Amino acid sequence: MGESEQGARSGFARKMNELFPFNWELLRHAGAEPVPYHLKKWWFCLGGTVLYLFIIQVVTGIALTFYYVPSPEQAYESVAHITQDVRFGWYIRSLHKWSSNFMIVALFLHVMRVYFTGAYRHPRQLNWMIGFGLLVTTLIFGFTGYSLIYEQLSYWGATVAANLAEATPLIGSWLGYFLRGGPTIGENTLTRFFVLHIGLLPTVAFILIALHILLIRLQGVTELEFEDEKVPEKERYFRFWPEHATTELMIGVLLMYILTIFALVFPAELGEKANPAVTPAHIKPEWYFYFNYRLLKLTSLRVSVILTMALGAIALFWPFVEEFLRKKFHISDRFSVLIGVFAVLTIILFTVWESFSG
Ligand code: HEM
Repeated sequence: MGESEQGARSGFARKMNELFPFNWELLRHAGAEPVPYHLKKWWFCLGGTVLYLFIIQVVTGIALTFYYVPSPEQAYESVAHITQDVRFGWYIRSLHKWSSNFMIVALFLHVMRVYFTGAYRHPRQLNWMIGFGLLVTTLIFGFTGYSLIYEQLSYWGATVAANLAEATPLIGSWLGYFLRGGPTIGENTLTRFFVLHIGLLPTVAFILIALHILLIRLQGVTELEFEDEKVPEKERYFRFWPEHATTELMIGVLLMYILTIFALVFPAELGEKANPAVTPAHIKPEWYFYFNYRLLKLTSLRVSVILTMALGAIALFWPFVEEFLRKKFHISDRFSVLIGVFAVLTIILFTVWESFSG
């Protein structure tokens, strides 16, 4: 490179730096963070997969918003228009649907890996709680999104959810009214779900994801050692950029390929339009609420809400609950593993049970 060319380049770099004064060296340094070797296995970096699927949701969601109309008269028709007339509308809608399902599966697997490797323990208790906030946010995303379609099942699913919200102790009637935008499901309900789905929830999710990743960056990921795997000292770490980032990117490309196959083979469908006057014989929420739905069928509206809240509170504060149980009753790691296995098996059992019931 000639001297004058080099001078011109550094002049350009200087000009850019004046316009946007940022220390790029800082970014390069942040990217060169060494990460432990176990992150080479997909099972240990599932959080990255969740993040990738979340980004697909944001991009496809923005595209859908260009055509979706959040009013009881036009919502169903606008979804039909997206599916049948808009160029690649069916593909974007199917990607949005499948990516949301994959995201929830990846999220549960991520929580399981964090739980069973004890990565929620000191000093990562706060990040576990932020993660729990992300789990709840993702589930509400799923519920509000499903209700936006305004087909029979999603309409009646929303009705059950509003009734469940109403059964919440103390704030129930306020929560039910807030969700519906009035005493019954009507004009305001869809607008509220839409605002939640495309405004409030994404904002909350962005803030929580930023905090989650900031804490991971500040605390580093938990270092795990496996007895049957003796790793030489110089291979114990590798660089985040470009090694780990490349692996994540390849997983992303593979996921996009799988999602496209799902979109082609099982494109998102549209049921009957919502009819508030006719209750369908079988009301079903999305599969990830089957656990709660089975609980509701086994108990009552109020008991199922109280149980869900109690179990949720235990899960949210589990790192502290475990610390307390350790001090008071000297429970071992095996006890926590047993609790985890019991929770996972119960969720699977209730979900399968509900999916086979009418
Ligand atoms: C949108 C949802 C989420 C995203 C994008 C996300 C992302 C990530 C990423 C990228 C990591 C780094 C390494 C890894 O992949 O394990 C991570 C770690 C972690 N996540 Fe999540 N996560 C989410 C939800 C959750 C949930 C629901 C929980 C628990 C309730 C949770 C708890 C944790 C903890 C404690 C760590 C630290 C693990 C360690 O130090 O080894 N996360 N998360």
